[in-house]
Amino acid sequence: MSAPILTTFAGGESGEWLVDRIEPVIGTTLPPVARLSTSASSGAWILRGVTSHHRYVERSEKAALVAVQPALGRPEATLAALIPIRKSAAWWELAQDERRAIFEGRSHHITLGLKYLPAIARRLYHCRELGEPFDFLTWFEYAPENEALFDELVGALRSTEEWRYVEREVDIRLRRDAGA
Ligand code: HEM
Repeated sequence: MSAPILTTFAGGESGEWLVDRIEPVIGTTLPPVARLSTSASSGAWILRGVTSHHRYVERSEKAALVAVQPALGRPEATLAALIPIRKSAAWWELAQDERRAIFEGRSHHITLGLKYLPAIARRLYHCRELGEPFDFLTWFEYAPENEALFDELVGALRSTEEWRYVEREVDIRLRRDAGA
């Protein structure tokens, strides 16, 4: 794995991403803001996360992901989604094998997600251990023509057994500021 990347997402009045909408999915939402910055250290709200090693990915899945996953920052990927997620105590009380059985065995998170690559670029940040209000910050980038595809994927994931353990989720949609 490459070195961990610590990122701060600051919602406020400045930043390279314009906020299209902030939708509560479950639990408390986040206050409305005009922009999102990945370099500012202050704002109306701040979320921090760090990349980490895989918990669930098996060898064959890793190979399949590496073969198709695109990098972040593609010029055509002018839309993005930041979806912070917190899972319930019941999830964290499970053993690793039980979580894997739900995550991939029965919810097919990786199999499902792979179908949407390379249209969607993604990065997963962990923040549970940082004492943050969410456990994960999930980040996605895609071209406008793939927005409906991304919505379809998010809808499919939200109907899985894995998502029964999601107790807080906010769906933040962004567009790159062409002038930034
Ligand atoms: C674009 C296609 C997607 C692919 C290929 C994908 C793939 C993955 C993989 C491989 C992991 C496991 C990492 C590990 O082993 O620790 C993961 C975790 C995760 N993904 Fe996705 N994913 C996709 C889309 C999404 C979407 C749209 C969401 C949110 C709506 C999401 C939310 C999460 C969360 C919260 C985790 C952490 C789960 C946990 O550790 O309990 N993913 N994803």
